[in-house]
Amino acid sequence: MMYRYSLRGRGDLTEWRDAARAFLAAGIVPDIIDWRTMDDADGLFGFDDNRLPPPHPEHPPLTVPSAFLKLAGAVICHSDPTRFALLYRMLFRLMHGRYLLQMASDPDVVAAQRMARSVGRDYHKMTAFVRFKELPLAGGGAGRRRFVSWFEPDHFIVARVAPFFQRRFTDMDWLIATPKGSASWDGETLRTTDEPAEKPDLRDETDDLWRTYYASIFNPARLKVKMMTREMPKKYWKNLPEAELIPGLIANAEASVIDMAGKAASDPLPYHHRIREAAARAPAPPEPSPGTLASLKEEARVCTRCDIHCLATQTVFGEGPPDAKVMFVGEQPGDQEDLAGKPFVGPAGKLFNDTLAEAGIDRRSLYITNAVKHFKYQLRGKRRIHQKPNMGEIRQCRWWLIRELELVKPKVIVAMGATALFALTDMRQKLDDVRSEPIPMEDGRTLFVTVHPSYLLRIPDEKRKAEELVRFREDMSQISRLAA
Ligand code: URA
Repeated sequence: MMYRYSLRGRGDLTEWRDAARAFLAAGIVPDIIDWRTMDDADGLFGFDDNRLPPPHPEHPPLTVPSAFLKLAGAVICHSDPTRFALLYRMLFRLMHGRYLLQMASDPDVVAAQRMARSVGRDYHKMTAFVRFKELPLAGGGAGRRRFVSWFEPDHFIVARVAPFFQRRFTDMDWLIATPKGSASWDGETLRTTDEPAEKPDLRDETDDLWRTYYASIFNPARLKVKMMTREMPKKYWKNLPEAELIPGLIANAEASVIDMAGKAASDPLPYHHRIREAAARAPAPPEPSPGTLASLKEEARVCTRCDIHCLATQTVFGEGPPDAKVMFVGEQPGDQEDLAGKPFVGPAGKLFNDTLAEAGIDRRSLYITNAVKHFKYQLRGKRRIHQKPNMGEIRQCRWWLIRELELVKPKVIVAMGATALFALTDMRQKLDDVRSEPIPMEDGRTLFVTVHPSYLLRIPDEKRKAEELVRFREDMSQISRLAA
């Protein structure tokens, strides 16, 4: 006897799981189930025909490894119609061999991981290439602003990505329409549907804004056409207003690079090149799950949002537990951080570590990051002299800091120095006016402002330096109490 099962949702794990559990409990082998979706349910066969078998009395209860459920959550969003059967086959095999997922060359495992990676890439593309257009407010009056966008994903990822947009654009009403379902947010409820949407006409003057922005961030020295089309595949171009500029920008790139080279002071140091080349040769790390700190770090690796990346060896991303209660924000990596790829490992880092230890704080419990993720410097002879990032660079880099805050959700955020304070609040305040006082923030978190450890290292007068070190230590003790 053959079973046929038709699923309503196209990327809905719960619906598939409930049916799969029933088949499994009845001991139904994979080969005799024909899995379908509402798209391919024909007239002869529809949802009403979905019959699930009764459980088999001798069937043992199954516990499914969480790694499988995680993988299945991604695979189920793939557009390949064989995904339901593949997952059921894997589930069935897991009953007889718990180590299936560890068999990296198993054809089912390979196929599932390939699908999960493709879904992950599609997720990233959607977070990067959705462009919202503002709609006029009904009746022309005041109210929440409303935005709409059109996107064409490869897979059924809308419901999976929707929480990302909810977090990111929580203060506006929005609708993302796609041929593979839509999502909307009205400030209270996040709704998703599998119904395919029609492409709305979204051309208006907002396109000009995107084009101006894109032309201003385009950096000809970093131009790699192959890489660019991989990161921003041509199929997305038609929905991106800025894409019209790309052919012209590419055509002018060579002249712009020559012009930029003429303005550059001098070449970076030889060891800097060696590290860069070694980094380029290193194999790409495994693709991390989307929406995690690991995937954000991976995205930031190739950040070109401002020009500092041209000088720096690598992006120095934040580090620490993804659920840390306290997040420390510094200014930007220094010379040693730039080479090591880790924040606060140079002289300022040493002072910072020592002070944390004196205050009884375990550095490993903290999330430590910087307002700016690349090292900005000026070459003097062979030395790379630290240069302060400007406000434009801090604002560009804030994009990453906000994502880090959204993911880590720290209870206490510590701004070390004026750059961090500006990055976190957009305020240019004298540090002394706000220092050492817990500042409640709108989102329920606490901001705590202290000085930057490099400032302490630069104090020439020993007595003053000792006093300042005591104050810094007291700040750390207060932070420790706030976190508790
Ligand atoms: N100074 C900073 O602000 N951050 C670092 O990571 C190192 C020095």
